Amino acid sequence: MNKVVVGAQWGDEGKAKITDLLAQNADLIIRYQGGCNAGHTVVAHNKTFKFHLIPSGILYKGKTCFIGAGTVILPEYFEEEIQGLIKEGIDVSGLKINPLASITMPYHTEVDGYSENTATKGKIGTTKKGIGPTYTDKMARIGLKVQDLYSPELSEKLDIILPLKNKTLKEVYGLKTYTKEEVLALCKKYAEIFKPYVCFDWQKVLEDAKRDKKAILFEGAQGVMLDIDYGTYPFVTSSNPIGGGAATGSGYGPAMIDEVIGVAKAYVTRVGEGPFVTELTDKTGDKIREIGHEYGVTTGRARRCGWFDAVIMKYAVLVGGLTSIALTKIDVFDTFDEIKVCTAYKDTRNGEIYTSYPTDVFIHKYLEPVYETHKGWGQDITGITEYGKLPENAKKYLARLEELLEVPISIVSVGPDREQTIFK
Ligand code: IMP
Repeated sequence: MNKVVVGAQWGDEGKAKITDLLAQNADLIIRYQGGCNAGHTVVAHNKTFKFHLIPSGILYKGKTCFIGAGTVILPEYFEEEIQGLIKEGIDVSGLKINPLASITMPYHTEVDGYSENTATKGKIGTTKKGIGPTYTDKMARIGLKVQDLYSPELSEKLDIILPLKNKTLKEVYGLKTYTKEEVLALCKKYAEIFKPYVCFDWQKVLEDAKRDKKAILFEGAQGVMLDIDYGTYPFVTSSNPIGGGAATGSGYGPAMIDEVIGVAKAYVTRVGEGPFVTELTDKTGDKIREIGHEYGVTTGRARRCGWFDAVIMKYAVLVGGLTSIALTKIDVFDTFDEIKVCTAYKDTRNGEIYTSYPTDVFIHKYLEPVYETHKGWGQDITGITEYGKLPENAKKYLARLEELLEVPISIVSVGPDREQTIFK
């Protein structure tokens, strides 16, 4: 069975743990989009590892881990991440980079920083890792791909890219321009960094895995609500975290996918700007943040917290192509008397009720959540490993979410450890 793991909300849903669990039974793991804007921590071999781009499946021996064509790579960050693994004695020989992946150049991070620092209205709250500008250049067909670093035609390519790039850097942003020699020197450095991992025969590796019916795990980053096409645009990332993104960013087509597992928290968090109808700016929000340790791995930012939103989740099931849900951090509610679930939005201007997600996010400021309230279970569930042993109220809560979302909850996570997982 080939599975895709997708974030079903605004990222940070606990995908790392689910991916880690599923990676055990996978032969080939492919990260299909995003870049080092993502961040997650994995505890293994009694050590803590921070991952941004490299599939954490690398921690298991004998797996092939691909950084797919749909990703963007910031070379210096990649080097730091890989060196960190090597220093801890991890065997990284299974890591492969698809030569079609895009490279984040220094001017991409500079433009991202500039746009974020100077924006007043319309600030996105990006991770400032150059993600948007790298994807912009990719789509504008003036980006650099990993394969270009080794091409005898690199100089010719730069003659096309650089005049355009420098004109924009100077005239639009008032930023430093780059000489061809500078960029060639950077490319030489990057070529060395990537050399041990670039897989020029990636087609053969993928063909062989397909023919041999190897188990493939497609690893998404961020979440459906940050998707460039379907998320809360423009407050989104610049790639396609949805299940369909696996079919463009991995090198395999959609028929290779058997299941799409959407990872969702029992509540919602978001970092960066953008609408968030169920956001709690009160003590309940603070309580969720503290119990759930809701602070970013990549940026350290405190995450905005709110109640579970079935409106966005139903939307995520549809556009994300989810076939089941892995619900994480349900144990955060162990001490809560009441747990709310948003089932609709009410427009405060005219009383209109939305049960389907309204995609014009500029009207979200007029929307308020319509909640139903569930009784808490008032006990520590972090040691429970069987669904049947969960308290009745927790089971009722899960059953109600399944009813609302019309997909099964296949995995329930009750704590950070691998053992704290209930397969339903
Ligand atoms: P960018 O991906 O750095 O361009 O940021 C765009 C938006 O996506 C911002 O709101 C970020 O906070 C958000 N974002 C990007 N990566 C992640 C992630 O891994 N988790 C949560 N939010 C993210």
